[in-house]
Amino acid sequence: MDMADGGRALVREHALIAGRPVTATETIRVDDPAEGTTLGAVPKLSAQQVESAVAAAVGAFPAWAATPAFERAGVLRRWAALIEQHTDALAAVMSLENGKPFGEARGEIAYANQFVHWFAGEAERMGGHAIESWSGADRVVTFKEPVGPVAAITPWNFPAAMVTRKLAPALAAGCTVVLKPASATPFTAIALVELALEAGAPPAALNVVTGDSGTVGRVLTGSPDIRKLSFTGSTPVGRKLMADCAPTLKRLSMELGGSAPGIVFDDADLERAVDGVTKGKFRNTGQSCVSINRVYVQRPLLETFVAGVEARMRTLKVGRPFEDGVEIGPLIDENGVRKVEEHAAGLREGGARLVIGGGRHALGGLFFQPTLLVGGDGTLLRGEETFGPLMAVFPFDDEAEILQRANATEFGLASYVFTESLDRAFRAARRIEAGMVGVNTGVISHAANPFGGIKQSGFGREGSIHGLDEYLQIKAVTLAGVG
Ligand code: SIN
Repeated sequence: MDMADGGRALVREHALIAGRPVTATETIRVDDPAEGTTLGAVPKLSAQQVESAVAAAVGAFPAWAATPAFERAGVLRRWAALIEQHTDALAAVMSLENGKPFGEARGEIAYANQFVHWFAGEAERMGGHAIESWSGADRVVTFKEPVGPVAAITPWNFPAAMVTRKLAPALAAGCTVVLKPASATPFTAIALVELALEAGAPPAALNVVTGDSGTVGRVLTGSPDIRKLSFTGSTPVGRKLMADCAPTLKRLSMELGGSAPGIVFDDADLERAVDGVTKGKFRNTGQSCVSINRVYVQRPLLETFVAGVEARMRTLKVGRPFEDGVEIGPLIDENGVRKVEEHAAGLREGGARLVIGGGRHALGGLFFQPTLLVGGDGTLLRGEETFGPLMAVFPFDDEAEILQRANATEFGLASYVFTESLDRAFRAARRIEAGMVGVNTGVISHAANPFGGIKQSGFGREGSIHGLDEYLQIKAVTLAGVG
């Protein structure tokens, strides 16, 4: 069996409610973006079916919340072991439905599994604290308790890591879940949840619903029993979900859009800057909310930097996910390709110089050439992430000016700074309005790092020592006359 067949074997064309496969008469097609063929379909669940998933999560909550944290951690550790054991098949199904190069998909499975390992440990360290008496006669003790049944809505660009980044802390905290994966990439999510159930998560503790976003979203946001929503996706959708959650006052985590600046100062180590910016831009074919959207290079270094990046980009192999050495896959759909085309055209109209690429790739379909544009007007990119393999480079002259330009966006997710000066690195890192700053690196994603944004990029932190708190609430118990 070749790799792709291993992935096809994991295609499950059903939702999962209380551990049971659920189908519907209407379905949603799932395409293979590299081949332009249909990979399968998932059910378009009715509102009643989604409600039954909520009821399952609600029913399973008291027992799972009461399961000792060390036992919950044990389930997570078994889940992690199964994910590791099935890495190739999980990566292959992801490559099939997302188009992600297979090597990169394997990398994402490892990244996804970091969250499972990490939150198993966090479950074991969970606890409240005792507060010094304020009256001399009372004591206050705090407990951390699971927030309740939660809804998780995940995107197509990281079909595994965004699932585990939400499900692992939820399970660790003692929450039960209804997961709505992106319609473009449901099979990786379903396969991961099946492994969690095999690892011993109670069947009704993890439910996967598929179907029309409006129908599913209305049930999840409207349900008073769902106590929290964790969403990764676009800012406009985040705003709508937040408004829909207002009547039931749900806890929210919103990981939304970005327009990450990458600032290369003239004292940067050229090789590190070229490597960091290229990795930060082209990971996942540029389809990441932490992807560098605007590269600012201090004028004295501009031409050498552009030459270095161009040389590196010429080595990027574009191709189908299972071909050897492929680093750039197809985009997810035609809208994605059109957006990159529009950004390339807009930049060129604004005076940018085309260095390499510029349009659709000779492979046809959803493939786009790695594209490098220098100069022109970057206003468009401050307001919209390109989400594709287009690197836009702009010159700048001084530090104060560039920090002001970097911050001239409604977004504040990731940012990157390249300099050999510690002083400048700290100064820039502190002044940039973003939840995350990479200094001399384009790689900032790890389970140990607090991942999240500010401004219109959302709020809440995933991963890290803060990620579990998103699924916990604090109870304060005042004990009169104790001590
Ligand atoms: C995202 O693009 O939504 C997540 C990227 C990451 O976790 O690195």
